[in-house]
Amino acid sequence: MADTGKTATAIVTGAGRGIGAAIAADLAHRGYHVVVNYRRDADAAAAVVAGIHRSGGSAVALASDVTDPDDVASMVATVLADRGRIDALVVNANTAAPTFAPLSDLTWAAFAAKMTGELAGAFHITQQVVAVMRAQGEGRLVYLGSTAADYVGAGRLAHGTAKAALTTFARHVAAETARDGISVLTVAPGAVRTEATAAVLDANREKVLADNSVLHRVLEPADVAAAVGLALDPALRPATGTVLRVDAGWSVLAGGPTA
Ligand SMILES: NC(=O)c1ccc[n+]([C@@H]2O[C@H](COP(=O)([O-])OP(=O)(O)OC[C@H]3O[C@@H](n4cnc5c(N)ncnc54)[C@H](OP(=O)(O)O)[C@@H]3O)[C@@H](O)[C@H]2O)c1
Repeated sequence: MADTGKTATAIVTGAGRGIGAAIAADLAHRGYHVVVNYRRDADAAAAVVAGIHRSGGSAVALASDVTDPDDVASMVATVLADRGRIDALVVNANTAAPTFAPLSDLTWAAFAAKMTGELAGAFHITQQVVAVMRAQGEGRLVYLGSTAADYVGAGRLAHGTAKAALTTFARHVAAETARDGISVLTVAPGAVRTEATAAVLDANREKVLADNSVLHRVLEPADVAAAVGLALDPALRPATGTVLRVDAGWSVLAGGPTA
């Protein structure tokens, strides 16, 4: 698709693979010009952009470590120079891989790294993009939370605490921006098949998840991407500050926070 400068622009952080790549493809399909952000894997991001172009969409890859405020400033400046505005931001980058360990085995360094990485990946880009959206008088933010924020269980202390903090951060951003035309939603997936979960999604776990899913299978990145696309719809602005759980029915089929 030719870059006319008239289509809405969305930044998707960490869109080189996994859920972010699927979100980028979905948003391009919905007509957004998509900024495919990545940290190191330029080839993967280029492949996502090429796929979008092959489907008739508009996208560009931009490297930026979203935990670094200077890197974020550079990316935001590039997007503004190219597009003049930022309509949507999806905070997705997996900036701190989950540490799965019980409290007794968890070091403070590992816990702090998870908390800092998760929140740095949201803080800097939110602060800078909200300033742009406030000046525009509109904008839409979606954060990738997790059902781990609600489910306690073996080894989920660090990851769950970080995702709960991210969800609370998003609610505060929603409150501070609600009167500026900006809406904020958190999309909270259950377990999704990506590189990040390859080690924990063994055959037994997949069967448990499939048996407790309305889809009769494990969630795929495209399932989450579709929900993010809907969450960015301006029609959902009245839902600002809320969480859209995408767990294929796990919470009602398996039940309970210790499931
Ligand atoms: N997978 C699940 O089951 C699941 C469930 C619930 C929620 N989530 C959430 O969904 C999001 C995506 O997860 P995923 O499984 O798709 O992750 P993933 O497969 O590990 O993909 C990670 C992506 O994030 C990028 N990234 C990492 N650190 C970055 C940084 N500092 N700056 C910019 N980009 C960075 C990577 O880029 P490079 O390769 O270039 O480094 C890569 O494109 C995460 O927030 C995760 O917590 C996942």
